[in-house]
Amino acid sequence: MVTGASTADLAVLLVDARKGILTQTRRHSLVCSLLGIRHVVLAVNKLDLVGYDRAVFDRIAEDYRGVAAELGFASLVIIPISAREGHNITARSPNMPWYEGPSLLEYLETIEIEDDAGERPFRFPVQWINRPDLDFRGFSGTVAAGSVAPGDPVVVMGSGRQSRVKEIVTFDGRLQRAATGDAVTLTLEDEIDISRGDLLVSPQARAEFADQFAATLVWMKEEGLIPGRSYWLKLGTRTVAATVTALKYRIDVDSGAHLAARALGSNEIGFCNISTATPIAFDSYAASRDTGGFILIDRFTQETAAAGMIAFALRRASNIHWQDSAVTPRQRAELKGQQSAILWFTGLSGAGKSTIANRVEQKLIALGCHTMLLDGDNVRHGLNRDLGFTDIDRVENIRRVAEAARLMSEAGLVAICAFISPFRADRQMARDVAAPHPFIEVFIDTPIEECMRRDPKGLYAKARAGAIPNFTGIDSPYEPPEAPEVRLTTTDANVEALSERLVEELRQRNILV
Ligand code: ADX
Repeated sequence: MVTGASTADLAVLLVDARKGILTQTRRHSLVCSLLGIRHVVLAVNKLDLVGYDRAVFDRIAEDYRGVAAELGFASLVIIPISAREGHNITARSPNMPWYEGPSLLEYLETIEIEDDAGERPFRFPVQWINRPDLDFRGFSGTVAAGSVAPGDPVVVMGSGRQSRVKEIVTFDGRLQRAATGDAVTLTLEDEIDISRGDLLVSPQARAEFADQFAATLVWMKEEGLIPGRSYWLKLGTRTVAATVTALKYRIDVDSGAHLAARALGSNEIGFCNISTATPIAFDSYAASRDTGGFILIDRFTQETAAAGMIAFALRRASNIHWQDSAVTPRQRAELKGQQSAILWFTGLSGAGKSTIANRVEQKLIALGCHTMLLDGDNVRHGLNRDLGFTDIDRVENIRRVAEAARLMSEAGLVAICAFISPFRADRQMARDVAAPHPFIEVFIDTPIEECMRRDPKGLYAKARAGAIPNFTGIDSPYEPPEAPEVRLTTTDANVEALSERLVEELRQRNILV
């Protein structure tokens, strides 16, 4: 167990003398090492239950030294204890005369933990803008690394704007210097644009600023990591949408080996590339924990999904630039007398997505609107012919389709997409990718009983007979939209009426002009 005994630099791991070193002990040791914890105490507990046997302790100690050898801890102290009997906790145990080291508390009281955060370059994540009246504008937060004094130059990562610190304000008055861990409000000499979530740094030692980086992830959520899915990434005071673009490997906690992996399950540790929706400021975790450590959060349940440690910015992020095109998407759409948009149909197989989407397209063409229809069954014959129906493949299916749909809207078209798209997170991702083009989510709400009754392709019958694994609604989930722009129930209206409703919807949104 990691007890986080005193500071982030020391961990006390507990093992049961009867069980010795378990996979869990190895995992926790690896996590400590990844977190940069430098001092480890291994408390071998329940010595009373093995008769205070020195041989048992020695064997465990030797095993653990083998585990720790690879992990680069600066110090390792192994102490035999009995928490229940209070042996070697505060005072040395009379039952273990063979042990000559300190008791657990003696050791914890004497160990000196060096903290070099104060010597590192200045880092100040802005938590909020303090503007009580027109005469005062301060930036509040906690110094994450280094220190700062009035007169010091600072730069805002991202915008590159510079100024100097005017005053350091606290509840108890002005300070001449603020150091790591101090919660302060800084005022600056110049009125420069700074927002909540920005990072102020020293101009001589700037942080990285990129939208792609490599990181180690410790996955914590029951439901596994899926590359391509969108999560919230929270780093310091900044939260942005992010996806894991490539999982490089998973670390085997027993051997330390790097194994090929397509996903990460609960408690697994992996190394991956991450891409954020907008560039963020950061350091490597090794250089600065507070500006190099982050968490991933599930966008719907708000649960913490993973803890991450940034290794390095990916150079490709700075080597690929947007090439501005001389003609804008709006000009392309205006030439067609319309506004581009994405009409995104979601619903079970057999719900009626393709039928309604086809009818809507016919109607739009008749009105002179330029469209393009992307349909699951068809796209899976070409662009996505390498993908199946596992969760991972479906996420990639939707990601590629979302990108294709965006290109279509940039071409000035109304893109009509008909995919089961069973997961909320991925429909949200498609919406993010589409922005700023209008994204209209159309939920074709047909109960599964009705889809099974219709079963136009005979797939439900096969799936129920076990012939098609991962079939949506049978043994793979469908997450209905909570707030779609349009919800169509197909059991009480015909295709004609439903398609007409959608055309009307586009008129009201000024997409047909
Ligand atoms: S999605 O889940 O990734 O969005 P998509 O819409 O592309 O699915 O493809 C769904 C179509 O593939 C269904 O209409 C059906 O014809 C076919 N299909 C084949 N296997 C499956 C399966 N296991 N689950 C759902 N649909 C399947």
